[in-house]
Amino acid sequence: MGGYGVALVGHSNPKVVEAIVKQSEKIITCHSSLYNEARAELVEKLAKLAPKGLTKTFFSNSGAEAVEAAIKIAKKHTARTQIVAMSGGYHGKTLGALSATWNPKYREAFQPLVPDFAFSQFGNVEKLGETVSNKTAAVIVEPIQGEGGVHLAPEGFLPEVRKICNESGALLIFDEIQTGLGRTGRMWAAEHYGVVPDVMCVAKGLGGGVPIAATLARDEVMASMKVGDHSTTFGGNPVACAAANATLDYIVNQKLPDRAAEMGYFFMQKLEEIKRKHPIVREVRGKGLMIGFEMKFDIRNILMNGLGRGVILLYSGRNILRFLPPLVITKEQVSKAAGILDNLVADEEKSKKQ
Ligand SMILES: Cc1ncc(COP(=O)(O)O)c(C=O)c1O
Repeated sequence: MGGYGVALVGHSNPKVVEAIVKQSEKIITCHSSLYNEARAELVEKLAKLAPKGLTKTFFSNSGAEAVEAAIKIAKKHTARTQIVAMSGGYHGKTLGALSATWNPKYREAFQPLVPDFAFSQFGNVEKLGETVSNKTAAVIVEPIQGEGGVHLAPEGFLPEVRKICNESGALLIFDEIQTGLGRTGRMWAAEHYGVVPDVMCVAKGLGGGVPIAATLARDEVMASMKVGDHSTTFGGNPVACAAANATLDYIVNQKLPDRAAEMGYFFMQKLEEIKRKHPIVREVRGKGLMIGFEMKFDIRNILMNGLGRGVILLYSGRNILRFLPPLVITKEQVSKAAGILDNLVADEEKSKKQ
């Protein structure tokens, strides 16, 4: 489970702990209307690491907030109202983010949601072309859908989304909250597809476990936001920024994106072996250390039995296991987890036959 994808650099990474302690001794809070060194350092680091041109950053405290900011930036910059999101997409549970989230299970009790959100089928270029118009402020996409079940954008889809946005004047927002920071074997999942968004949302592992999120945008896009248009008291908190600086340094210095690619390949091979042995496994898919393991049956028993055997597993819907382990995971740990999973699947298979 990897802390729901947060523990990229492991739990209580010593470099992150050290940065938190040091910063706490200097100053713990500093509102973003004032200058702060840790924050300035993080702004620079993110601008260097981000896809080309995304040099401006707005800080907040959670993934959903990063999405809220992206929606407001898009509306303000384009002076348009419509946001187009994807079927199967997940962007968080605050009202704006929820309006872009597909699953009716999360939405139903809270209707009406924010007006002028539309959905288009993930992977379908034609449908998107029909949905996006000169009223569209932005199209929001996860390059690889996480909550939806670890679904990769089909080859060629994201470049076409970019083209449709360019032609209609809509902004392209990539939600890299789950896919970003090396998880998929590249710093950003967008790199696999050669597409650069106008706005990007980052959160989860950014602070090494401390809550912090960032919305990045091109200079002229962010410039549409005037002082006071959007703010949050804790955004850019110095301790969170110091933790994020240490986390980013660790990801870069330890080459964790490369490691995620290598370990992900190793992990997927192990999972493919399990699939070959057990017909109740339908598919193994993913990139780097973002892996889906789809079963033909409900995985509840596997989740629950896993707890007793030493693995905390994560689901993605009724029948999909989702692996988001720390990028520092070792081959031994992967082998151990895969061995436990093999036994869990075998037991489940046996109980299904009885
Ligand atoms: C792609 C994506 N966007 C947004 C969010 C929401 O983030 P948070 O739970 O920090 O609000 C998540 C959380 O799982 C996510 O995976």
